Formats: sequence, C-alpha cells, structure tokens
Amino acid sequence: MTDTKTAPKKTTKAADAPKATKGSSADVAAGVAQYLTPVVQELVALAVNGKQAHWHVRGVNFIAVHELLDEVVAHAQGWADEAAERVVALGLPVDGRLKSVADRSGAVNPKLGFQPYDEAIADVIAQMDVATEKVNDAIEGLEELDPASQDVAIEIRRGLDKDRWFLFSHVAVK
Ligand SMILES: [Fe+2]
Repeated sequence: MTDTKTAPKKTTKAADAPKATKGSSADVAAGVAQYLTPVVQELVALAVNGKQAHWHVRGVNFIAVHELLDEVVAHAQGWADEAAERVVALGLPVDGRLKSVADRSGAVNPKLGFQPYDEAIADVIAQMDVATEKVNDAIEGLEELDPASQDVAIEIRRGLDKDRWFLFSHVAVK
C-alpha cells in the first residue's frame, strides 16, 4: 500500500546546496547602504540633539520630559546601531562620522540654551519626523530589494512612532 502522505524523497542536487543568500550580493548590499545610511545619520543626530534637549529642558514637566528624553536618546542610539550593523553585515562600511551626520542631516539645528519643555519637545519631534521620513524611504525602497533589511527599518519606524507619541502627549491638549 502506498502512503500518499509521504512526500517523495528529494534527491540532492547542486541547486539544494547551501549558497550565498540574496542579501549578500553586491547590488543588494549597495542598495541597503543607500537606504539605511541616511537612517543611521538621522538617528545619530536625534541622539545628539535629544541629549541637548535633555540637558536644557525647563518647566513644570521638567523631570518627566528630562527622563523621557534620555530614553529617546538610548533608543535612537540602539536603532542607529542596528541599522549600521545591518549594512556592515552585508559587507559594506557605513558613514556615521560626526561631520557626515552634520552635513547630511535634514533636521534644523535646535536653539541653544535652556528651553521651555514644550519648545524642547517640538525641536525633538521635528528631528524625529525627519528621521521618520528617511525610515519611510528605506521601508519603501527595501521592500523588493531586501526584506530582512526592510524589517530593520520597520522596527525602527514602530519605535519612533511610540517615542513620538510619548513626547507629544506632554504637550497635547486632547
Ligand atoms: Fe542625564
């Protein structure tokens, strides 16, 4: 009697042998670097400017915003690391140098000195929105190119949205 549930035995062919993944090709790596490098740079900028806001925030919501900004900074550093290491894992370097970040970040330089908490939050949210634009570009561009890298961008997008909500809720009236 033949067991119809038993799948036919596969013969081992050259095509079944372990091979380099799609993500290791030079073209894919270059594309991933193209989309994730701006993400890294904006997240580094967010980490730097988030610390600036953390140090200079003032007002009735001081302690809550001061502490939350440290979380925003820690998340931005972690996501920058994740995005950068995805590029490096595919074999390419990434440019997270200070001058490159300053030259290429699309965020407006926050005001110098102490800030009322609502203004400090507005500055950080503006920076987050610029980072989110770069993340959205990466999500769109990486969809066909390399879903594993797109997944990194999607995770960052989710985190940025949550941190933005936490920050915005300190100044929202409804
Ligand atoms: Fe601190």
